[in-house]
Amino acid sequence: MADTITLIDDRTGKTVTVAINDGVFNSSALRELDPDLRMYDPAFLSTAACSSSITYLDGEAGILRYRGYPIEQLAEKSTFLEVAYLLLNGELPTADELDEWAFDVTHHTFIHENMRKRFVDGFHYDAHPMGMFVSSVAALGTFYPDAKDIFNKQSLDRQTLRLIAKVPTLAAMAYRFSMGLPFVYPDNSLSYSENFLNMMFKVGDDYKVDPVLARAMDLLFILHADHEQNCGTTAMRVVASSQSDPYSAAAGAASALYGPLHGGANEAVLHMLREIGTLENVPAFVQSVKDGNGKLMGFGHRVYKNYDPRATIIKKAAYEVFEVTGKNPLLDIALKLEQTAVEDEYFISRKLYPNVDFYSGLIYEALGFPAEMFTVLFAIPRTVGWLTHYAELLSDKEQKISRPRQRYTGASERNYTKIEAR
Ligand code: SDX
Repeated sequence: MADTITLIDDRTGKTVTVAINDGVFNSSALRELDPDLRMYDPAFLSTAACSSSITYLDGEAGILRYRGYPIEQLAEKSTFLEVAYLLLNGELPTADELDEWAFDVTHHTFIHENMRKRFVDGFHYDAHPMGMFVSSVAALGTFYPDAKDIFNKQSLDRQTLRLIAKVPTLAAMAYRFSMGLPFVYPDNSLSYSENFLNMMFKVGDDYKVDPVLARAMDLLFILHADHEQNCGTTAMRVVASSQSDPYSAAAGAASALYGPLHGGANEAVLHMLREIGTLENVPAFVQSVKDGNGKLMGFGHRVYKNYDPRATIIKKAAYEVFEVTGKNPLLDIALKLEQTAVEDEYFISRKLYPNVDFYSGLIYEALGFPAEMFTVLFAIPRTVGWLTHYAELLSDKEQKISRPRQRYTGASERNYTKIEAR
């Protein structure tokens, strides 16, 4: 049986047969049938917008691989900076390559003093840290006019390095500002995740980052680094397609991630667990969701119709963190919620399982982060994925500026009427 699909336009009897490769067929076949014919696909449920070799997902089997490596192996054996190198370069680094990469990232963590001393002061005292993060990423680009030289690989590599190195500093700056605490400068003697926790929580010279918590942070960064053509990455690619600089594109991606249906879900899960409050309230809450009163946040996924493999890893890591921090009391409610939902026909029939956001907030809270910081914690590592897709799109000869068409349902032509006649 040939790997082809034949389309027949019953209005004209015209047919076109087109090859199916890697599970897709080229939409140019439609234009062969009728140049004005468009496939109507709101939210792109059946659209492959690009070719990509970065991340592979199998939603039915619950598989996630970065450049072919299973997420379970990377989570257990790798570090976030090594995974960042893998995503960006396509191969795991040698020891020398990793040392050089870590040195370069470590020595680009400072941000311009004007960001700290003038830009950030423009925010209201209770500004949401994710809103500050989105704005700061865009503002950061204004310090680097060479960022527009996007087809110069050296320049793009420099911007990529700057963004990956500086997003933890921007995140910590937002947090410290919101807490009214003095900023903590990056400490080049610390690893990426240790340095972030230090910039976040250091008060007094005796503060030491707990290695178990630093490892948990690094693991969470690995798990959130990339995820194929999710909403935020699609935004990154759309902005990149107009040849905007990587900082502006990343600000657009972060804006998409901010939404409660996407990266904002981890914060929403914690608010949901707090609202439920007790184990006894779980059945009534699940019933209210089934009655259409809101969603079970942290559940469901456009691709995974099984357990999100990241949720499984995060759930296990939570216990290791709680050994150090003490158990998050909301864990029992989350476990009861999961058990109730996965046994309930409403969720089973819709293939709704815990996603990456369901348990991550419990760890973040145990690490000392307020819920408003959770999506920022998602954005830090996802900056690597966004930048990897940005570079891949720019070098893809099949790509051009994103400009979809529409199905017009508005008024047909009509003439302007004077206001007196309306
Ligand atoms: C992330 O794409 C990615 O890869 C994203 C991400 C990444 O790494 O980048 O994995 C990160 O964004 C994870 C998802 C975090 N969002 C949430 O946890 C919010 C809650 N989840 C839902 O909003 C929803 O599941 C989505 C947005 C995640 C997916 O939505 P879809 O694929 O558009 O599915 P849908 O909304 O069409 O739902 C199908 C059915 C509907 O019921 P019916 O209309 O058929 O009766 O399932 C229901 C929905 O009402 N449903 C839910 C539900 N999610 C879907 N019902 C209750 N609770 C939910 N969480």
